[in-house]
Amino acid sequence: MLGNFTYCNPTRIHFGKDSLKHLVDELASYGKNVLLTYGGGSIKKSGIYDEVVKILTDCGKNIIELSGVMPNPTVDKLYEGCKLARENNIDLILAVGGGSVCDYAKALSVSVYCKDDPWEKYYLRMEDVDNKIIPVGCVLTMVGTGSEMNGGAVITNHEAKLKIGHVFGENVFPKFSIMNPVYTFTLPVYQMTSGFYDIMNHITEQYFSDSDDCTSDYVMEGLMKSLIHSSRIAVENPEDYEARSNIMWIATWALNTMVAKGKTTDWMVHMIGQSVGAYTDATHGMTLSAVSMAYYRHIMPYGLEKFRRFAVNVWGVDPDGKTEEETASEGLCAMESWMKEIGLVMNISELGVTEDMLDGIADGSFICDGGYKTLNHEEIVEILKESM
Ligand code: NZQ
Ligand code: ZN
Repeated sequence: MLGNFTYCNPTRIHFGKDSLKHLVDELASYGKNVLLTYGGGSIKKSGIYDEVVKILTDCGKNIIELSGVMPNPTVDKLYEGCKLARENNIDLILAVGGGSVCDYAKALSVSVYCKDDPWEKYYLRMEDVDNKIIPVGCVLTMVGTGSEMNGGAVITNHEAKLKIGHVFGENVFPKFSIMNPVYTFTLPVYQMTSGFYDIMNHITEQYFSDSDDCTSDYVMEGLMKSLIHSSRIAVENPEDYEARSNIMWIATWALNTMVAKGKTTDWMVHMIGQSVGAYTDATHGMTLSAVSMAYYRHIMPYGLEKFRRFAVNVWGVDPDGKTEEETASEGLCAMESWMKEIGLVMNISELGVTEDMLDGIADGSFICDGGYKTLNHEEIVEILKESM
């Protein structure tokens, strides 16, 4: 049975090759002071920076720049942004980059006027926002996180060895996001494929929960099939517009909160992957691929029926003459082959994890109970050992 829910997604999406032109109309709704935030410089190399600055200047905006948002944005960078935004009375935060820059912009939007320490309030105590929020707009350059159309904002605290995501409410979702698939063509292959697995895992985190006949599961099967198909094309030819545009849109759908509605959802791969990220600062999607096979093989017996359905409906496994378990296992093997085929990292040692970190990584993995099996500390350590 579909659970009860309230649904609203307030982000306006402008999608396609000439979508940046819509920035002009969007800017009209906001005051003069725009905080332009971006990462380590990829947007300067690709020319997106110049295009955006020209539009902002033509629209008469006063640009305040905040560059250097790192992959897996840190709490120290958040404090730096708060100071700059407070000094400049910002009307709009414009994020130009990938999930890290978009997440950072959202975290900043709720932190600038926060009377408390934002890390403690939002990330340790998981409290709601009760202060002024600065509106955020995004120009997306990397595909995977779904950050362009959700309220998530993941922040890393290296000192505490914690990487935590806060899922904020509708009022923190980007007001608009500009999505031009061509902007993703310059991504290094490692980042591109990491994003592909991030998308796949967002879907499986939501798919592998509950046992009822839920319409979201059918939608997710379609999204996964489309992703598998287009990812193979994109790996062969990263400039295939059709494949890259399909993948960009799948990523948004995978985590724009729609398919989660009415489901309990799992998220344990993300919890373990994020903790791996806190210890290694590794690329997000690769932290997920590296622990996934051990995790899914571990929980498969507890959700056998769904794993069987996954094998048949997503991977085309023929169930004839096979036990439920054989079919389910074949599905996971098919996923593993696809992961290797597109070049994902399949173990955590490759990401810099050493034996002495395993206990700490397990400690930093928040335990969720929406999947088929609520893990305990020892099981997480076991999964990590198997992922070495
Ligand atoms: O910093 P620059 O120079 O821009 O380089 C970036 C970065 O090094 C580069 N890049 C981005 N677009 C590019 C490009 N290089 C060339 N051409 C382009 N068009 O790619 C690198 C990675 O970018 P990043 O933004 O870090 O990647 P991603 O989009 O995967 O974001 C990862 C962050 O999002 C969080 C992750 O935990 C991680 O911190 N997540 C956010 C979620 C959400 N909001 O719902 C959910 C996800 O599960 C995830 O946790
Ligand atoms: Zn993710």
